[in-house]
Amino acid sequence: MSKEPIRIGLLGLGTVGQGLVRLLQKNHAEYVRRLGRSVIVTHAFSRNLTRLRDCDLSNVKVGDDPMYVAKEAPVDIVVELLGGISPARELIIAALGRGKPVVTANKALLAEDGDLLFDAARKAGVAIAFEASVAGGIPILRVMREGLAGNRIEGLAGIINGTCNYILTRMAEDGLDFESALAEAQEKGYAEANPAFDVDGIDAAHKLTILASLAFGIPLELKGVATEGIRHVTERDMSLARELGYRIKPLSIAKRRDGAVELRVHPTLVPKEHLLAKVDGVLNSIIVHGDAVGPTGYYGRGAGGDATASAVVADILEIARQPGAPLSLPPLGYEPNSVQPQPIVPLRDVECAHYLRLQVADTPGVLRAITSILAELDISIEAILQKEPKGREDASVAIITSSVSEQRFNAALEKLLALKFVRPGSTHLRVEHFHGR
Ligand code: HSE
Repeated sequence: MSKEPIRIGLLGLGTVGQGLVRLLQKNHAEYVRRLGRSVIVTHAFSRNLTRLRDCDLSNVKVGDDPMYVAKEAPVDIVVELLGGISPARELIIAALGRGKPVVTANKALLAEDGDLLFDAARKAGVAIAFEASVAGGIPILRVMREGLAGNRIEGLAGIINGTCNYILTRMAEDGLDFESALAEAQEKGYAEANPAFDVDGIDAAHKLTILASLAFGIPLELKGVATEGIRHVTERDMSLARELGYRIKPLSIAKRRDGAVELRVHPTLVPKEHLLAKVDGVLNSIIVHGDAVGPTGYYGRGAGGDATASAVVADILEIARQPGAPLSLPPLGYEPNSVQPQPIVPLRDVECAHYLRLQVADTPGVLRAITSILAELDISIEAILQKEPKGREDASVAIITSSVSEQRFNAALEKLLALKFVRPGSTHLRVEHFHGR
């Protein structure tokens, strides 16, 4: 081999960092064949130098000064896998400022401050790459930027948080409670450092922000994403949804609507025969709808060290072909000066079907009162199911409405919850029917 190796400075030796070290060693020969030179981690920063690690670091200089790795260390590419906003942002900007290309998996930072990073990379004339930031090992950003570039993207919907999908799957299929399922996801290295980011929908909102920019050529609009987590989804809702012909999935949706875009993350009832209803465990899947190609689907492991490292290596190999130059495509796949804001549909104007479970006293006239409130607001009922679990005083009434604006549904909900026989503990979820998708 004639050429010098590509040297990596690695910021962060957590789950993904260790996965990257392992993968670069395991597939070393394969990467030499692809690139004509080898890729090795020479320097690394770790927050915890004494932690036991599941990878061989014998040829890596591991230190406690991240700025040294970002700015001074003799490396060709800096890989940021620390997560969080600061110091990751300062480190990336410092590396770019020194003319070092950067690979990052940091969706939170990209969603909040991506423009700043892209500007810094542009000014420095070097690459910034972030395939690993969305959907772990699924190369969805390259798909959006390159493979589907011939299309006007109409919308996308997907499961892009592995932890939430894992939790809901374990609850639905194996009867685990929420806390135990979350603990398992943490143990397997799927969850964020702060798992509230997963279960409250924030991580998915970060990823949807990035996906929507690539889909529509709009600025990163994290604040525009209506975000709801999965904490209120109960085992009872899962079994009622199942009886009604649905599965409850942690869905992220971005779609065009009348010159505006909808951006939302929430647990969603998905018809049981739809592809996304069958995506279980840590798996992610995204359906992207292009105007020419129609719906296309992508599926794979969305979290975990090895899967995410797969995407990091793809970026490293791309940059390593021309380490001193920016990538041939702009980060969002659109010329920076044609990235244009679009109005975002406020959640109150979003139209979809709704699932409502009401806990009600077991007395006569309950169904009549519920249905007349819905009728008053011109909300039609697609399905209704009443359950009286043994040993309980109250009954569950589950309703699926036809498509209606959030505002109108909420007006009905307020009236329904005020009924004297409605008990605490009701749940409201949205339903997605994917017409034609
Ligand atoms: N916590 C994230 C998830 C990791 O569960 O999807 C991958 O981004």
